[in-house]
Amino acid sequence: MIVTLVSLKGGVGKTTSAIHIAAYLQQKGSTLLIDADKNRSALVWDRESQLPFKVVSEAAAPRFIQQHNYIVIDTQARPSPEELKDLAEGCDLMILPSTPKALDLDALSKTVELLDGLNAKFKILLTQVPPRSSVARKIRASLQESGLPVFDIEIPRLVAFERAPVKGILVKDYPDPRSQTAWESYEALGKEILP
Ligand SMILES: Nc1ncnc2c1ncn2[C@@H]1O[C@H](COP(=O)(O)OP(=O)(O)O)[C@@H](O)[C@H]1O
Ligand SMILES: [Mg+2]
Repeated sequence: MIVTLVSLKGGVGKTTSAIHIAAYLQQKGSTLLIDADKNRSALVWDRESQLPFKVVSEAAAPRFIQQHNYIVIDTQARPSPEELKDLAEGCDLMILPSTPKALDLDALSKTVELLDGLNAKFKILLTQVPPRSSVARKIRASLQESGLPVFDIEIPRLVAFERAPVKGILVKDYPDPRSQTAWESYEALGKEILP
């Protein structure tokens, strides 16, 4: 199974999601995270090889793909329409993360427009959601009214997510009272991806 994280905008949680989805899938079978972002954020996160799955660049990926059951692809912001088409063709599920912020939602709707007609299997993931956000609730309702698929789970906005990459570890291993809550959100997402 190949899962790809995509958004026209940076800062929406692609890399954070790719890392934690890969951590979930690794519990089910060997998982490879391909860092297809020129900024190499996932590779930087795993610079000390402390993550429980392999992270490789796009250029190194061909050597490793066959040995893995699950592939997660982290991509760069602003893919061209052609790249978006290729990404859609090359995966089983495209995850479109967006925060509830207006500019991120605007980029999300542009992504969905570009995917229209490409026969892409995609699902929207709301990320960095503040506690008890009525805005996020309204956004979810309006996305669903438009007939768009949205994951049931929302990823909460928690500082542990910002700190974990500094130490090169998963959020569940970061010493913080909320790190378990943080990890449980990606576990719940993992169960929606792979019931
Ligand atoms: N759920 C979250 N709660 C708080 N901060 C988050 C969360 N997800 C991501 N972040 C932070 O937001 C920033 C952008 O996240 P990142 O995963 O790098 O997005 P992208 O790959 O789309 O650019 C980073 O500083 C990251 O630590
Ligand atoms: Mg990134």
